[in-house]
Amino acid sequence: MPRTWSSHPGWPAKLGPLTVAGGNVTLRPVKLRDAGPWSRLRLRDRDHLEPWEPTGEGSWAARHHISSWPALCTGLKSEARKGHMLPMAIEVDGEFCGQITVGNIIRGALKSAWIGYWVAKDVNGRGVATAALAISLDHCFGPLGLHRVEATVRPENLPSQAVLRNVGFREEGLLRDYLDVDGRWRDHLLVALTSNEVQGSVADRLVRTGRAAWA
Ligand code: ACO
Repeated sequence: MPRTWSSHPGWPAKLGPLTVAGGNVTLRPVKLRDAGPWSRLRLRDRDHLEPWEPTGEGSWAARHHISSWPALCTGLKSEARKGHMLPMAIEVDGEFCGQITVGNIIRGALKSAWIGYWVAKDVNGRGVATAALAISLDHCFGPLGLHRVEATVRPENLPSQAVLRNVGFREEGLLRDYLDVDGRWRDHLLVALTSNEVQGSVADRLVRTGRAAWA
């Protein structure tokens, strides 16, 4: 009898490629062997990442030491197998360059989740996050069967707001003192997208509007 590894309809999966100025963007499940590049990029890009990410326990250096990844990765994959999460690595031309995570997947009458992401500084401004988000959203509204995906973003984070707008997210309001980010409670804009608002595929729309191409 085949063993059941996952109760998650869209997991594990390899998604993409979608071609943007930065290269061919693909998504795949995070893996233990990401430890090296994950730690190197997260330590190198601290100034770029820390102002936008939830405050963690301990120093940035300790939290992003190569030895921290196995426990983090194993926890993410365990949540994925239970159907609660979709923790993906973003690759550009086959190189690890960030993460995109669908979390708090709720089924039943909500069929909703949140999405969050980061991309290494040296590939910024070349469409990588926009492509990764489009590919993820198509997976959420397709194989995952979700109805709504939401995201929260600091009002000061203009690049991330541009990325969210690029794929069709619509603003729903301001959440005051919402999340402890970079050591303080911070306001966040709530944005959302439902499957009813997506005409066809999000990635297709990027291709039609000249922002991306099918590889
Ligand atoms: N003001 C306004 N827009 C800007 C600025 C700026 N200062 N700088 C860049 N942009 C725009 C670009 O013009 C582009 O928009 P366009 O496509 O309409 O021209 C957009 O920001 C960037 O788009 P991409 O190239 O697809 O995104 P990129 O691969 O550079 O990644 C990201 C953006 C994810 C925000 C990256 O800079 C990052 O990881 N930042 C640090 C962590 C972070 O902020 N994560 C997101 C937290 S919020 C969340 O997860 C929902």
